[in-house]
Amino acid sequence: MNREWWRDAVVYQVYVRSFADGDGDGIGDLPGARSRLPYLADLGVDAVWLTPFYTSPMADGGYDVADYRDVDPLFGTLNDAASLISDAHELGLRVIVDIVPNHSSDRHEWFRAGLRDRYIFRPGRGEGGEFAPNDWESLFGGPAWTRVPDGSWYLHLFDPHQPDLNWDNPEVHAEFLDILRFWLDLGVDGFRVDVAHGMVKAPGLPDVGHPAQSELLGAEPLPYFDQDGVHDIYRAWRQVLDEYPGDRMGVAEAWAPNAERTALYVRPDELHQAFNFHFLKASWQAESFRTVIDETLAASEAPPTWVLSNHDVHRHVTRYGGGETGRRRARAAAMLMLALPGSAYVYQGEELGLPEVLDLPEEVLRDPTWERSGHTVRGRDGCRVPIPWTSTGPSLGFSEGTGWLPQPEDWAKLSVAEQRASPDSMLSLYRAVLRLRRTLPFGDFEWLDQPPDVLGFRRGDFHCVVNFGASVVRLAGSRRMLMASSYYGLEGGEVLLPPDTALWWA
Ligand code: GLC
Repeated sequence: MNREWWRDAVVYQVYVRSFADGDGDGIGDLPGARSRLPYLADLGVDAVWLTPFYTSPMADGGYDVADYRDVDPLFGTLNDAASLISDAHELGLRVIVDIVPNHSSDRHEWFRAGLRDRYIFRPGRGEGGEFAPNDWESLFGGPAWTRVPDGSWYLHLFDPHQPDLNWDNPEVHAEFLDILRFWLDLGVDGFRVDVAHGMVKAPGLPDVGHPAQSELLGAEPLPYFDQDGVHDIYRAWRQVLDEYPGDRMGVAEAWAPNAERTALYVRPDELHQAFNFHFLKASWQAESFRTVIDETLAASEAPPTWVLSNHDVHRHVTRYGGGETGRRRARAAAMLMLALPGSAYVYQGEELGLPEVLDLPEEVLRDPTWERSGHTVRGRDGCRVPIPWTSTGPSLGFSEGTGWLPQPEDWAKLSVAEQRASPDSMLSLYRAVLRLRRTLPFGDFEWLDQPPDVLGFRRGDFHCVVNFGASVVRLAGSRRMLMASSYYGLEGGEVLLPPDTALWWA
């Protein structure tokens, strides 16, 4: 049977600005990313997801798009995008691009031309309209409304430079179908849909009623997220994707409250995948991971996805405790994620075990959250620090110049060049695991009975066991060891699995 490539693909997320700089201006770009494609092919991933590289004033790192059909000069040209796509294909890598349909930049020609019915403008409340139309808050802090000189207000769930588009307007629908076709014609294999749960708002734009957590993954229903109407949009998009040969796909960034709501985005006539942010949110405990895995597998027939980090959250080495503990757990988490059925998303630098950079000087912070929160929330720059490629040079091989964010001094030893030379490195682990994963004849998923603090499952003859606890676990060792995330012991025919360690055997 011809299985679609995305069903079990490992997709590598390239945050273009911070991956590799081709022209020495200190900002990553498409020619830089293109030059590193052989690294990704050698790493053993199946696809690359590129974060937005479109024309943008960069109020939110490019998630504020001014022209959906062109490349920002900072990142290169349309020709560079085409060359990257064709090189990737030659190397056997698929390419997914970001599409940002919830909002455009306020420098988009529609907004500049004052085409108000394509955005969400409303009169204010109060006698002179001096209060915002409702109580919605921006995800970046402060009110989600900004007033314009004629007295009316426009909605922006994110930065004021990111006005929300009005998806009740058929012209907005038509425009995005056309944008999809533009990139499909250029050869992309799929789209990562930004804020895929946000485009449709509850009729009448009702108040939330209380301060909403300014977090994407809320447990509570909100009048601006995960409204049933968004699914009509994906039904139309799916038809376009299906018009093209070669299994073109869409993956939703849908921060839905639970696995059932997330599953709605991947019904057979909608998108193909949705990020599993509940996995990313799981705490380092067997029970916590088991619950997410169970709920995910039960929620949908569609192949699940797994993700540990991305450009919006603290890197998982740090989330899992930082330092040696964090790294050790991250090694085990990688082996867990890559053993599960379905597809996995790897964020650039996680294969190097990069930690979150928590002490960036305030003057370099770029995330709009920093300003919008009145300098109380530092935001997401700490996971966007440029990749260290070599152990020397002004930005450790990222650029010929100085990178747009400074790298910590001790990142030289985390560089690709250093780690390549060491069989015990995180990079060597990822390379080995990704290679092995391609060769394993995985069967059906089934939990194995294990002591508390230990997770074990099989997929046919393949077994994965993870010790989340603080003490060594003894496993009857009649199987063939394939890989372990840390050193383990052998004693009297038993395997001694140390804390925070995963093993694969068959
Ligand atoms: C998504 C992106 C994030 C961006 C936001 C607004 O959550 O991942 O980086 O700031 O959408 O576009």
